[in-house]
Amino acid sequence: MALRTPVIAGNWKMNTDIESDLELARGILEQSDAVIGVEKIVCPPFVALASVSELLRGSSIHVGAQNVSANENGAYTGEISAAMLKGLTSHVIVGHSERRALYGETSGDVTAKAAAAASSGLRPILCVGEALEVRQTGNAESFVADQLESSLAGYSDWDALIVAYEPVWAIGTGEAATSDQAQEMTAVCRGVIQNLAAGAADSVRVLYGGSVNSGNIAELLEQSDIDGALVGEASLKADEFSRLIAAAGTV
Ligand code: PGA
Repeated sequence: MALRTPVIAGNWKMNTDIESDLELARGILEQSDAVIGVEKIVCPPFVALASVSELLRGSSIHVGAQNVSANENGAYTGEISAAMLKGLTSHVIVGHSERRALYGETSGDVTAKAAAAASSGLRPILCVGEALEVRQTGNAESFVADQLESSLAGYSDWDALIVAYEPVWAIGTGEAATSDQAQEMTAVCRGVIQNLAAGAADSVRVLYGGSVNSGNIAELLEQSDIDGALVGEASLKADEFSRLIAAAGTV
């Protein structure tokens, strides 16, 4: 069995303000700093990255961004480059389904963002996942395989990469995938990595995301291809997020 350090990553989305970001980070720090054997990541909004990363400096809790520009620098009003994030964050989410669906990000954009992140020394958490219609027509596996393959076209920094399988129908709905479904699909993701870079398939962490909470985390983590979780709603409460961290690590 491969020995991969599990990852618990919280995506705070656009739900907090600078004050509540700090309060949430403080709560997680108090409850989870001492837990070992798990990579812990919080992803606050851009405006709070500086204060949250200052607060968590020297702790075991990493900070990630929720997005990054594919461009290095220049006339891109409102954009944040990977170089700007360096020093503030160690990770960055790319290709979240909300960005793909609401902001028209293509898999090509996602590859470029992942590559920009990795070349600045950040770890991309690259998201893929099918919509409900795709699952209902029985095409989830091929859709996700194609989406991941095209999101990794030309990508080469396998040591930095984390993949997150997040079915769109499970995000924010309270209806998580079953552990069998999540296992099947994370295995599909690992198969794609195997085809692209055989040596990396055993070491790249593949997460599940979509309505993860303290009631379903244990069963998800038991699956052989699930190496942790990308968490939205349940990451907004320090107690609940810390339960997820405790389930993945050792206190
Ligand atoms: P959720 O969000 O945990 O609220 O379903 C997951 C995500 O969007 O990463």
